[in-house]
Amino acid sequence: MPKVIFAANWKMNKTRQEAEKFIQDFLKIKLKEDREVVICPPYTAIPALHPFLVDTDIKIGAQNMYWEDEGAYTGEISAKMLEDICVKYVIIGHSERRQYFGETDETVNKKVKKALEAGLKPIMCIGESLDEREADQTKGVIQRQLEAGLAGFEDYDNIILAYEPIWAIGTGKVATPEQAQEVHAQIREFVGKDTTIQYGGSVKPDNIVELMAKPDINGALVGGASLDPKDFSGIINY
Ligand code: PGA
Repeated sequence: MPKVIFAANWKMNKTRQEAEKFIQDFLKIKLKEDREVVICPPYTAIPALHPFLVDTDIKIGAQNMYWEDEGAYTGEISAKMLEDICVKYVIIGHSERRQYFGETDETVNKKVKKALEAGLKPIMCIGESLDEREADQTKGVIQRQLEAGLAGFEDYDNIILAYEPIWAIGTGKVATPEQAQEVHAQIREFVGKDTTIQYGGSVKPDNIVELMAKPDINGALVGGASLDPKDFSGIINY
């Protein structure tokens, strides 16, 4: 059985002080225990959150990393640096990184490989654009992203997949549970029965129940709604 994992993707939001305020409020809320909770703040807020989480089951994730160990790569952060600040998960290949920062299936593959070597759990994001969906290319796009992003791995047990249709991210336009399940079933076929497959794209407390009712949806990668302790805990405790 795949682990159910809810991850908060804060994107470029929250100063250290705002992150501390979030976590103080969030920790007052009782969370159901049979699910893993990961918070992915901006790098700068990670050390501020860590002391609050050492005695909890909540894990810290990063939103990106580079595949080299060290060197002349201005502005980049290595897997070793993430481990040094107690990061356990790392989001790889989010569509915003593919769209604005030139990430490709090949760079995604290098990053996933490096994360696994370093003992980090990669959350690899895939998903089609609106144009691709309307042109009936969703299946082909997902297959290409899976084959290229996961090239060279023998099993996918330590990898988390996040299916995020680009047209549903930050738009309030959630995929219907049926649309999501259709793609999740395709991903399941590729990665096997034990790999966690999250859904992402406008997940809110009021749409998570029907998404989680689908057999191949094992949690969510949450953007906007994860910035608020009540909304994020409402999703986790669906
Ligand atoms: P959203 O973002 O929940 O704000 O749509 C999801 C994501 O980009 O991971």
